[in-house]
Amino acid sequence: MSKRSLSFICQNCGAPAPRWQGKCEACGEWNTLSEEGAERAAGPGRAPRKGRPFALEPLAGEAHDAPRLASGIAEFDRVTGGGFVRGSVLLVGGDPGIGKSTLLIQAAGSLARAGHRAVYISGEEAVAQVRLRAERLALRDAPVELAAETAVEDIIATLSEGKTPRLVVIDSIQTMWTDTVESAPGTVTQVRGSAQALIRFAKRSGAAIILVGHVTKDGQIAGPRVVEHMVDAVLSFEGEGSHQFRILRAVKNRFGPTDEIGVFEMTGMGLREVANPSELFLSERELGSPGTAVFAGIEGTRPILVEIQALVTPSSLGTPRRAVVGWDPSRLSMVLAVLEAHCGVRLGGHDVYLNVAGGLRITETAADLAAAAALVSSLAHAPLPADAVYFGEVSLSGAVRPVAQGAARLKEAAKLGFTRAIVPEAVRGEAGEPGLRVSDVANLANLVADIAARGKEAGKTGGQDG
Ligand code: TYD
Ligand code: MG
Repeated sequence: MSKRSLSFICQNCGAPAPRWQGKCEACGEWNTLSEEGAERAAGPGRAPRKGRPFALEPLAGEAHDAPRLASGIAEFDRVTGGGFVRGSVLLVGGDPGIGKSTLLIQAAGSLARAGHRAVYISGEEAVAQVRLRAERLALRDAPVELAAETAVEDIIATLSEGKTPRLVVIDSIQTMWTDTVESAPGTVTQVRGSAQALIRFAKRSGAAIILVGHVTKDGQIAGPRVVEHMVDAVLSFEGEGSHQFRILRAVKNRFGPTDEIGVFEMTGMGLREVANPSELFLSERELGSPGTAVFAGIEGTRPILVEIQALVTPSSLGTPRRAVVGWDPSRLSMVLAVLEAHCGVRLGGHDVYLNVAGGLRITETAADLAAAAALVSSLAHAPLPADAVYFGEVSLSGAVRPVAQGAARLKEAAKLGFTRAIVPEAVRGEAGEPGLRVSDVANLANLVADIAARGKEAGKTGGQDG
């Protein structure tokens, strides 16, 4: 009889510790260590397995494109890189209530309708609840096979019977538990053990598996972090509570791109694909108000126009506030520093807020110029022309630098009825879009002067002094 070995595992990052401590030394989180039984397979009771040699192969040789099956939801397929790869495992993470279950039952329903075997295992909801949702989504007739189960061994035994399913949805990985691990469901060890068993099943059978993972901020339930390196692709489903827009983004993808996004709208009848996101992101624009600029961005291969909103107000605080939603805060600090240093715009006594409309998150440096335009427009109380788009990177010297895919950005702007584009110098020659007047700016100071002049014209004076 071997004594059951116990160790302490951080529920945030999965690092083990020999004894309980208040703080995890690996990730620095407090109060995340909890006691878990060691995995039995690794226990001392078993005789060590003798290794069996296998054949090694040269790099040159036959290569196959991963066989894929499109889900039938175009925005979903765009993010995965063309559909579900046979034998692959995909993790879909996101806040509770964002719509993960809805998206995946819709994907399973669409595949099942196309004649493929699709299985949906819910560990969180009863079968009746899932049915109720399916009815709301008009999926009642889709031959999805359904079960409310949490025991991984039983699930694998069931799936191994009959025709191999083409798609298996496990909703969610946090509710699953496996016999091979002794800790409670939801702990890191259980999540990892269950994921391992399911991944082994996927590789063996060729079924594509989607694992749902909740992301919780308080670290009580093990986040799907520990599973991320085990799976083939990690998608994150994002959105803001107050908006109907949902964005599916690939964080990791062994079989496809990681910069594509899929855009959905949550409606009363489930998630609706948004084929033209620019129209959606610009649909709530307030024309003619200062502090907004339209940014012509690129997400993956697709141009997306989005409104950047800025508010610059005199501060009553010793250290003025800088808050940003949807963009990199350090990028904002940089743009503010360049405005101060090279354009004579004094912002030291002002609170600065920056928001990307519609809940989109921008990672491009090409947004610098649009952000700067919105900031100066707010400070000078000078509305920017409603029919203009902006893009360009701002360097620390105040120069406006060219960015990639200028032509695609201009084309999208022209398509949506914009008539002016303010862009870096090098972009001007790139494309001639009919109906689009392209003006270039060599440096940020020129843009600031233009906007300030507009403000003066409008007969209003702001805090502008440059
Ligand atoms: P759900 O898919 O259960 O989220 P998750 O699995 O990520 O926790 O979605 C829950 C929310 O979506 C819920 O607040 C209700 C809303 N919803 C709709 O607005 N329309 C619909 O058709 C459905 C099914 C859900
Ligand atoms: Mg759910």
